[in-house]
Amino acid sequence: MRYQIALALSLLWPAMSANADEVPYKETNSASVARGATVYGSYCALCHGSALDGKGRAARLYSPPPANLVASEKNREYKELIVRRGGAAIGRSEFMPPWDEELTDEQITDLLNYVETASLRAESVTQGETVYNTYCTLCHGPEADGKGRAAKMYTPAPANLVTSDKNREYKELIVRRGGAALGRSEFMPPWGEELSDSQIGNLLDYLDAIAAEGD
Ligand code: HEC
Ligand code: HEC
Repeated sequence: MRYQIALALSLLWPAMSANADEVPYKETNSASVARGATVYGSYCALCHGSALDGKGRAARLYSPPPANLVASEKNREYKELIVRRGGAAIGRSEFMPPWDEELTDEQITDLLNYVETASLRAESVTQGETVYNTYCTLCHGPEADGKGRAAKMYTPAPANLVTSDKNREYKELIVRRGGAALGRSEFMPPWGEELSDSQIGNLLDYLDAIAAEGD
């Protein structure tokens, strides 16, 4: 039995890593995105917030407020323009400073890659929340704390997904294959047939996001 599970797992792994590549925001630019995150933290987070939602510590000093960068409808060219030249030069708030002198071209490219990646991730998290609300709330609860309406029917109880100590790979495995295949409760159903790869990717992004909020 244990051997069979190990074998099943080893067969599943390559397929799973191939799927992971399809999640849109995991593009090849990860080094640039990581550098962009650092630049963002130093120069932008104070106003635009560490979640890029426009809610930085200094945000309430400004009206109009700093833009929500993950909900922005502006394209990359526009963003580059306002980042280089500042708000005033293009008829927006003077409190959006120009960065052309301060940052190198590479830093600006990195920043734009980071903002783009964060926007795609935010979109995926929103979609994942919808998938979660449709398929998982009944057992795991609207707060994902394991307290869904049906939770008391099951022992062991549905897991608290906010405080879960399992990593993303493990979560993907149990979501795809269900509890029984991993020697856990059979009441955690397998979703690999029911949900598409992108729905599962969205779901895992959502679980990552709520786990990070719990930190
Ligand atoms: C001192 C506060 C402040 C800092 C620091 C700041 N911004 Fe802004 N930013 C603003 C404000 C305020 C606006 C909104 C301007 C408006 O609506 O007229 C804005 C708007 C923007 C927009 C336009 C988004 C849209 O949807 O229209 C982008 C892109 C942007 N900022 C990126 C950045 C980046 C990248 C950095 C770091 C290099 C940064 N900002 C640093 C205050 C700031
Ligand atoms: C019918 C009830 C039920 C539904 C619906 C359900 N689960 Fe579960 N889930 C469980 C139970 C029960 C466990 C605990 C299994 C155990 O401890 O053996 C669990 C465990 C998990 C775990 C393991 C977490 C950990 O820390 O070990 C994850 C991740 C998870 N579920 C995700 C989901 C997702 C995502 C969905 C929706 C697609 C979902 N579950 C739908 C009952 C359910």
